Amino acid sequence: MRALWIAAATLAAGVAQAEVPDANAGEWYFARYCAACHGMEARGDGPMQEILTVQAPDLTQLSASNGGVFPVIRVVRQIDGRDPMLAHGGEMPLFGELFSFSDAAIPAETGQPIVTAQPIADLAAWLESVQE
Ligand code: HEC
Repeated sequence: MRALWIAAATLAAGVAQAEVPDANAGEWYFARYCAACHGMEARGDGPMQEILTVQAPDLTQLSASNGGVFPVIRVVRQIDGRDPMLAHGGEMPLFGELFSFSDAAIPAETGQPIVTAQPIADLAAWLESVQE
């Protein structure tokens, strides 16, 4: 019980220290790590598209193709790539290790919090903001 309380307090303190998803930081990460394939505006038209055998998808349509709900869990797991159950064997690099320097908790579409790396939470926040 005590451990749980400390964990909850630590989480609350972490969130208070601005470890909330930051869409502006997400945009920065996207330009640096993702735009080569997905395009600066996430429309799936990055310059590396020509040499990919699998098209990098248009990420502005994630909600539209998911019944109007932004698929937070799917997005987080795709970027992180560390969940072996969800290894997709595609062409996209996995960023879980690179981004693992700091954690954030964000609400999944079910309302349950999921813990991921701060940059991944930032990226998800930015991607959610560009849904059409
Ligand atoms: C080397 C090219 C490449 C880079 C770099 C890349 N992606 Fe991808 N991405 C892909 C491809 C190709 C797919 C299609 C699925 C697959 O092959 O894995 C994909 C799929 C996705 C999906 C899943 C879409 C869906 O329908 O579920 C998301 C989300 C995504 N990428 C986000 C990102 C983010 C965020 C970054 C940067 C941190 C990134 N990608 C970097 C090529 C790339």
